[in-house]
Amino acid sequence: MKGVILAGGLGSRVYPLTYATNKHLLPIYDKPMIYYPIQTLVKAGITEILIVVSGPHAGHFIPVLKNGKEFGVQHLEYAYQEKPDGGIADALLLAEDFADNHSIMTILGDNTTDADVSVPVKNFEEGALIFLKKVPDPKRFGVPTFDPRDPSKIIEIIEKPEKPKSDYAVTGLYIYDKNVFKYIKQCKPSYRGELEITDVNNIYIKNKALVWAELNGYWLDAGTHETLFAANLYWANKKRTALLEKLIKETVR
Ligand code: TTP
Repeated sequence: MKGVILAGGLGSRVYPLTYATNKHLLPIYDKPMIYYPIQTLVKAGITEILIVVSGPHAGHFIPVLKNGKEFGVQHLEYAYQEKPDGGIADALLLAEDFADNHSIMTILGDNTTDADVSVPVKNFEEGALIFLKKVPDPKRFGVPTFDPRDPSKIIEIIEKPEKPKSDYAVTGLYIYDKNVFKYIKQCKPSYRGELEITDVNNIYIKNKALVWAELNGYWLDAGTHETLFAANLYWANKKRTALLEKLIKETVR
């Protein structure tokens, strides 16, 4: 399987931080944000990666990531999204040639997680697999409606609903088969002018080809000042706790 990280967008919700650089290069504790989705893919055994970039700071990625070798990436490509706010599905469409009929694991560049997705990646065959997470504020996300007769099935996903039908958010981690590009081309821009990934997921649902899994572990999108700060706290704490545990082990030996 190949991997795609979507790091276009405007990052307007974290202005003025993104006046001078791209959101995905902002620090999350001791690393630029984009390191985290790269690590999630590499940990899952995916080492052929495309990063979609856009906007005035697109060139900033190369001096940071270079050819990806230091992260264990064997093949790193970049694509440029002309309309930075064209939508997640618009950004993903740029991966069609790169995917070359392979299945792809897609991660939004501002999503950080310590979940291990290697088993779902290994077992994936066809259709779409989306990862859900229970959240206190589902209104900010795409929210699934489960089939009342069979809660393991999603019957619809609604983007940023006024009245969410569940407590789950569709996270920014998805696995798609090669049909994804055909489905994106069937979508029309939404009221906010974006090609919506939720519309693509709803096509998979209509075709009875979408399954879901709960993301095991911490997950946060760092797209606002508050969540960026929370992500920094989480990763700082995690690293400090690990250091402390190591120190204690060494001292009591
Ligand atoms: P968003 O956070 O929804 O959008 P954004 O990054 O433009 O931020 P803002 O709303 O503050 O202006 O997007 C989530 C991720 O999806 C983001 O990290 C990058 C990616 N993305 C693209 O690659 N292209 C796009 O056109 C959009 C909208 C998002």
